[in-house]
Amino acid sequence: MPFSFISAWKKRRRSNTRDHTDPWIYKPAEYWGIEDQTPQPTKRRHGSSIFTLKEMEESTCSFSDENLLGKGGFGRVYKGTLQSGEVVAIKKMELPPSKKAEGEREFRVEVDILSRLDHPNLVSLIGYCADGKHRFLVYEYMQKGNLQDHLNGSCEKKMDWPSRLKVAIGASRGLAYLHSNSEVGIPIVHRDFKSTNVLLNGNFEAKISDFGLAKLMPEGQEIDVTARVLGTFGYFDPEYTSTGKLTLQSDVYAFGVVLLELLTGRRAIDLNQGPSDRNLVVQVRHILNDRKKLRKVIDPEMARSSYTIESIAMFANLASRCVRVKSRERPSMPECVKELQLIFCTNAKGLGHAF
Ligand SMILES: Nc1ncnc2c1ncn2[C@@H]1O[C@H](COP(=O)(O)OP(=O)(O)OP(=O)(O)O)[C@@H](O)[C@H]1O
Ligand SMILES: [Mg+2]
Repeated sequence: MPFSFISAWKKRRRSNTRDHTDPWIYKPAEYWGIEDQTPQPTKRRHGSSIFTLKEMEESTCSFSDENLLGKGGFGRVYKGTLQSGEVVAIKKMELPPSKKAEGEREFRVEVDILSRLDHPNLVSLIGYCADGKHRFLVYEYMQKGNLQDHLNGSCEKKMDWPSRLKVAIGASRGLAYLHSNSEVGIPIVHRDFKSTNVLLNGNFEAKISDFGLAKLMPEGQEIDVTARVLGTFGYFDPEYTSTGKLTLQSDVYAFGVVLLELLTGRRAIDLNQGPSDRNLVVQVRHILNDRKKLRKVIDPEMARSSYTIESIAMFANLASRCVRVKSRERPSMPECVKELQLIFCTNAKGLGHAF
């Protein structure tokens, strides 16, 4: 197995450790139970720096409310400015004692996996802080926040169809990269792909975040059977839920749900609806290949002049295949990338745009 966590880690420590009294340095190779083999330096845009609690406090004005970007299951996320002047997003782990062990695991997975990956459609991990009991993850700052807010949240101007298609293409490329052998040498299943984990930069380019639940899928062992199903309600692969068998195709299902969110502007789970209408997939699955009915579910807030029905129909057809109950009937992520590129071109041609 082409794994070299220790050598990459030692290299990272040599170049990034500022303080030799750093209280906590974890050993990824031990964590994964994988032996160090040939040295293979990892290419990263950002090295994973190690920060102290003081640096985290200073960069966020002591976690002031003005710097609060959002809150998730792991804790709050703050905007911060490092001493170098770099603007970052800092995720602070705030978990009740009963969830600390789980949080620690997710923290390590995130640092371990993300610090080894380098792709324009994955959020970069700039570093982390593990000072005493405190845990922070430091990411590149994504100016436009998460995709869900742009579709049905606080953002007023809704995205047009070409922007949505570009987001879908970007996210599909990120997932295809994870599913390929990437730098890690083993396919990775994200396991928590959803619209709040698709972040947008100033140019509305999509990057995938949150690798805490990610899992390596060693070759020839494409199925991982777990007693506990992890992920987010509304994005669960039904096959994974019923059998506990995790495959790369579980991400394809979740990707299909995000495609449906892009198409309809609705949430994957809408608690404002009655029990039978809450789940987006259940609500629209049967009409995705019916052009007449399809028109009724297109996001009414999306500029009509930005899409052709032809491209919408192709997109809906792809989404319907991604959310098929049987995982083997779903397309692969590289197939999704190709189809989305074709859909983008079809839309531009139909509107008479040059591309
Ligand atoms: N790198 C970042 N740049 C800018 N904003 C970010 C960044 N990371 C997270 N955020 C913001 O902080 C919010 C909370 O993120 P977090 O990942 O903790 O939770 P979540 O993905 O919304 O939900 P959950 O924890 O249930 O998965 C995000 O929705 C996003 O708006
Ligand atoms: Mg998230």
